[in-house]
Amino acid sequence: MKTTLKGLSFLMLVLVSIWSCEHEVAKVNPMYAAIRDTTTTPPVVPPVTPVDPVTVVNACSVDTVYFASQLYPLILSSCAMAKCHDNITKAEGVVLTDYANIMRYVSAGSPTNSKLYKSLIDSDPGNRMPRLPVAPFSQTQIDLVAKWIRQGAKNNSCNTSSVTNCDTLKMSFVTNVSPILQISCTGCHNATSPSGNINLTTYAGTKVIASRLSGSLNHLAGYIAMPSSTVKLSACDINKISAWVNQGALNN
Ligand code: HEC
Repeated sequence: MKTTLKGLSFLMLVLVSIWSCEHEVAKVNPMYAAIRDTTTTPPVVPPVTPVDPVTVVNACSVDTVYFASQLYPLILSSCAMAKCHDNITKAEGVVLTDYANIMRYVSAGSPTNSKLYKSLIDSDPGNRMPRLPVAPFSQTQIDLVAKWIRQGAKNNSCNTSSVTNCDTLKMSFVTNVSPILQISCTGCHNATSPSGNINLTTYAGTKVIASRLSGSLNHLAGYIAMPSSTVKLSACDINKISAWVNQGALNN
């Protein structure tokens, strides 16, 4: 009987400490609040809605396009940002902030029957998405969307948090850094509409802000969290960008 009571009170103690931990995390860091410039539009923070069924595999395959790490960041950065297809503006009634909503414009297996894909390749600049000033998708980005749709437009992800196979030696801006920025950042940070006055489409624009990248991508206190307060790049991508900065942020 005594042991049962002891056991029970221990369990209570554990539950109470878990509860209080959760509440710690939810607190807003005052340093973060202080540096925020309230005059610029804050980055859009679409909630990451858990959707079903999520296919998670362990190792990322180079032949597969993953929604979580490739498609979703691209759409958040180029389509679902503030004043476009976010939950507030809903331009033309279209919301693209989560998988379920994105799938309303996708016919799994067939890019040419998918409004999402067709809008990217429309030859009429007035109908093509994204609309200016956001730059049209590059051929690589268009191909990525098509491949994801052909592969069944799954809500899939792979374990990108594993950093064991992440090569960060001799990072090159062109080969390693720029492709990551083009997927997750340049929809907001481009030459025509440089959010926060930051243009990540060129070496020069990236070099200017290089010292803020690691803190911002790691969501450290004192930095504005990027690409948004709810989405982080994979650990490997963050390590690659940080390594490039530490290696001198070269134009290589
Ligand atoms: C949805 C739009 C959006 C996306 C996507 C986005 N940013 Fe930003 N970013 C902003 C805005 C807006 C600001 C300025 C915020 C402010 O001043 O409050 C900003 C600020 C920054 C800053 C300055 C942070 C600081 O603390 O000084 C860096 C660095 C940055 N972004 C890098 C990135 C990188 C790298 C990516 C991609 C991984 C990215 N951003 C994706 C909108 C975005």
